[in-house]
Amino acid sequence: MHIAVVGSGYVGLVAGACFADLGHDVILVDNDQQKLAALKAGQVPIHENFLPELLQRHRGHKLNFSGDLQQAVRASAAIFIAVGTPPTEQGEADLSYIESVARSISGAINGYKVIVEKSTVPVYTSDWIRKIILRNAAPPDSFDVASNPEFLREGTAVTDFLYPDRIVVGADSERCASILREIYAPLTSGSYYRLPQAIPQPDRARIPPPLIVTSAKSAELIKHASNAFLAMKISFINAVASICESVGANVQQVCQGIGTDSRIGARFLNPGIGYGGSCFPKDLMAFRAVARECGYEFRLLDEVMRINEEQRKRFLRMTRSALWTLRGKKLGVLGLAFKGGTDDIRESPAILLVQALLQEGCQIAAYDPAATERAREVLKSSVEFVNNAYDAASDADALLILTEWEEFAALDLKRLRSQMKYPIVIDGRNLYDPETMAASGFAYYSVGRQPAIPEAGPADAATPSRKLDRS
Ligand SMILES: NC(=O)c1ccc[n+]([C@@H]2O[C@H](COP(=O)([O-])OP(=O)(O)OC[C@H]3O[C@@H](n4cnc5c(N)ncnc54)[C@H](O)[C@@H]3O)[C@@H](O)[C@H]2O)c1
Repeated sequence: MHIAVVGSGYVGLVAGACFADLGHDVILVDNDQQKLAALKAGQVPIHENFLPELLQRHRGHKLNFSGDLQQAVRASAAIFIAVGTPPTEQGEADLSYIESVARSISGAINGYKVIVEKSTVPVYTSDWIRKIILRNAAPPDSFDVASNPEFLREGTAVTDFLYPDRIVVGADSERCASILREIYAPLTSGSYYRLPQAIPQPDRARIPPPLIVTSAKSAELIKHASNAFLAMKISFINAVASICESVGANVQQVCQGIGTDSRIGARFLNPGIGYGGSCFPKDLMAFRAVARECGYEFRLLDEVMRINEEQRKRFLRMTRSALWTLRGKKLGVLGLAFKGGTDDIRESPAILLVQALLQEGCQIAAYDPAATERAREVLKSSVEFVNNAYDAASDADALLILTEWEEFAALDLKRLRSQMKYPIVIDGRNLYDPETMAASGFAYYSVGRQPAIPEAGPADAATPSRKLDRS
């Protein structure tokens, strides 16, 4: 199948590379000339496992890059739109990029085309795309608009795309649905997984994945509702974590107890400093705005967002309570990306916390395995960027863990302790067992669990308060 993917960001680039790996001929279109030049020159603009291999495998053969959208449309049977849908100031999705792409597509229709929303968009967007294309004089039977929402997670985007839990196709005609079925046939038939060069199967993958055909509107709603539900799970467990702190319970034990209920499931029950990234915050706001437009006040979403913000404030209070005062304190920070495995810092709770700590007068040395360059653009020289976790801890009054990178869960505790001025770790991601940390000589603070203080108090520490501020 000849496919155009418009927008070569986190979603478009991964989708394009994966479609090529499924055997399709793909043209990736972007209007960012710098990005295009970098892609054509063989650079990989984002940090994602397996993406460099796929780009290397297909660049110049099954995967080509172009700035000419109309030419790409003329050459393709299906056009996937994967441009950004950022929030407006009112919290709605800004669909101007989608509209401008739809307008350009209309002038290049030279036979039946399927135009597919890959971006996350509010319900009714497919109707609007159709109207825009018709307004620009394309014949009504020369195209269909489908919704094929993307559920990949940054950090594991390639394997999520190739080993999805499900593929959702929102199509209002059989002709359109059958083209999308054909595009995904290598996954749904299982033939891709038998290829010797297939990207390796991750744990828990269900192959072959089911393909669910719905109406376009249902598919649009499935994406918003999925993200809202997942964010709700995170806020729910963060609210439970706050109660655990107050009553002396352990939220990880509570998670295990409720997560093993198959009706609930353990995933996304991760207490911490809250969700971030380019999707959950904006998609919740957009979903709430859509609901309001349809006459429904989705107050549950307000509460999910409120708890998420509150979680960062609680972490700040915990830090203050561990250190007494913040002004002039030297803090090591582990993690700036919004989650482990990615260089994406959009709406990262780690960045927001670093900014709040800088405002409080802290000095910060930060390390992130992939996000340093992007973080430097935002934080400039207000933060010292270092090359490893131990340098971040060097001479620090406390070490803060803000992103759940695997390497942060496997630190050499003895070495870490010897680097620090005071062995105090404040873990916003619950990567360590409190008892182990106390036994290793750390005063250890985490989310939804009691602080663990070594028997004799943290060696040389400025007696951190044993009681958490529970206000
Ligand atoms: N990032 C994720 O994890 C994720 C997951 C699922 C869905 N989504 C959704 O996918 C969409 C894209 O997200 P992203 O993170 O890839 O965004 P992104 O900002 O990384 O990429 C968007 C790309 O589109 C390009 N673009 C914008 N206007 C264009 C135009 N007129 N013509 C050609 N290219 C254009 C930009 O230059 C950029 O490269 C959003 O709606 C997002 O909500 C994102």
